[in-house]
Amino acid sequence: MSEFARSKESLWRALQDAARFDETVGIDAQHFERMLKRHITPCPFSEANLFGRMLLGEPYILTGFPSPLQGSLHDVSDDEAGSAVMEWLGRNGSDDRHRLYVGPTGVRRDLTLEEIAVKWEADRTRFGVTDLHIKHTNVEDVIDTDTLSAFNILAHASAMAFEQEMFSLVISSRGQVTDSHSDAPDSSNYCFTGQKLWLAWDTYEGMRHGLQDVDRMPLAGKAHFDMETWLSLKSARWLLVNPGETLFLPAHLTHKVITLKRYVGIGGFFIALPNCLRVMEHWVSRVPLWSKRDVDGERDGLLGDIAEEISSKIVALRGATKRERRRWGYDYLEEAAQHFIKSRRPAKLRQLWSDPRFRCVAETIDVPWPCGSQRSTSNEPVLMSH
Ligand SMILES: [Fe+2]
Repeated sequence: MSEFARSKESLWRALQDAARFDETVGIDAQHFERMLKRHITPCPFSEANLFGRMLLGEPYILTGFPSPLQGSLHDVSDDEAGSAVMEWLGRNGSDDRHRLYVGPTGVRRDLTLEEIAVKWEADRTRFGVTDLHIKHTNVEDVIDTDTLSAFNILAHASAMAFEQEMFSLVISSRGQVTDSHSDAPDSSNYCFTGQKLWLAWDTYEGMRHGLQDVDRMPLAGKAHFDMETWLSLKSARWLLVNPGETLFLPAHLTHKVITLKRYVGIGGFFIALPNCLRVMEHWVSRVPLWSKRDVDGERDGLLGDIAEEISSKIVALRGATKRERRRWGYDYLEEAAQHFIKSRRPAKLRQLWSDPRFRCVAETIDVPWPCGSQRSTSNEPVLMSH
């Protein structure tokens, strides 16, 4: 069997496996060729692949992204990374409890790290943990969050913006299904061990055709999903994430995730220079998800604050060393802006330009905007009038 046939065979097996845990993702063999056209294959980590793809608004997977293990786990081999992390957590000794959703109906339970490690090792019950935030905890003794956040403006911003980074350990058992949902910024997911199947699509294209999203509409039960509709969407993409691979997922994509092999990874949310215009557009047009439960209006100014952080970062990097500019993907900023302008309708650009938060970022980027801007190329950040 050729390499290509082998890889098709393993993709087909993964899809069949996923359908055992969630019947809505099952497809007939006759649709598999259509499915393959939507499949995303991994590409090797490089600066060009990391930042050049980030600006496109498509999901992508990188192999060979630097492992974030450090301290006593620094020399652990890739094959043992997942179990080493879980053993370390089991010995951690913390009494803090973390939220789990257990079983096919997702019953909530609160367990310590040791109890989670035991449950993961047993691999008998379906469960998933997503709120195991690790920033400023002793987990950072063994996991370097800066590896994935080196280019993340949220990680170095005000306290409220920093909250949105939500760097977490992601732990799940085989068969765990995460219902169709969205996240506020783009996300990154590094896999230590296991395998997950992701189905993604543009939230609003999906909604127009009947696919639901638990974060964007009030739902009493599970979000409606069916493969026939998903396959008809222009934005439909799917992929498998395997050990040592890192997934980057744009904020405008709703996703449904099925764990095929028990999984340990880390994930967080980010805004960087190559994706800043796209994420700002998403937030300005669709309202950030953090506003949904913000009844006191505590985060009303957050979008403006993040816009100012981005603008200040761009200005600061104009005089920075080459090494520092490369770390932040500064050299991809103009390409990102040109791509953004070319791929949006003039009416959309005018609408965005009328929003001071979007304009605060856009005006700082030195490209000819079609909306009649006065560009700032000085070393002063553009200040918003809010
Ligand atoms: Fe998510």
